[in-house]
Amino acid sequence: TEQTYIMVKPDGVQRGLVGEIIARFEKRGFKLVALKMFTPSKELLEKHYADLKEKSFFPRLVAYMLSGPVVGMVWEGLDAVKTGRAMLGATNPLASAPGTIRGDYALQVGMNVCHGSDAVETAQHEIGLWFGGEVNQYKLSRQEWIYEA
Ligand code: GTP
Ligand code: MG
Repeated sequence: TEQTYIMVKPDGVQRGLVGEIIARFEKRGFKLVALKMFTPSKELLEKHYADLKEKSFFPRLVAYMLSGPVVGMVWEGLDAVKTGRAMLGATNPLASAPGTIRGDYALQVGMNVCHGSDAVETAQHEIGLWFGGEVNQYKLSRQEWIYEA
């Protein structure tokens, strides 16, 4: 099954949104397979956001992400990457639909509360970076009430 890397950014931690974000993924039906609070290094963040290195906002992005601890998690389930992105909403919160995490809790792109992997390969890369690829394997007993037989 598909896995995605979801991370509550420093503003999300400071604003007390960790529980809310976890609850949304739990209630949607996804299975939590890894969870950790990290105080990331600059090196790790530069790897995580390597595709944005040439952007003018990159130094601001790195400073933002270094401004406090983050909560990283791996969620597993049907179409987890795409559905996770849909639950987060558009990158710029002003364009995020109400009902999405960013659409409900954020206003500016440089303070957009959470991260979600943008593709299955990216997710695997990010799970490697943040968790060394180590996630938990277990059967979720409520699964049969979430997925059709
Ligand atoms: P992530 O889930 O965090 O990867 O966001 P995303 O995939 O929706 O967007 P992208 O990967 O393109 O950008 C990564 C992050 O950089 C965004 O979530 C923003 O926090 C930040 N960012 C993107 N564009 C801008 C910008 O124009 N200005 C500023 N200040 N930050 C930006
Ligand atoms: Mg991204």
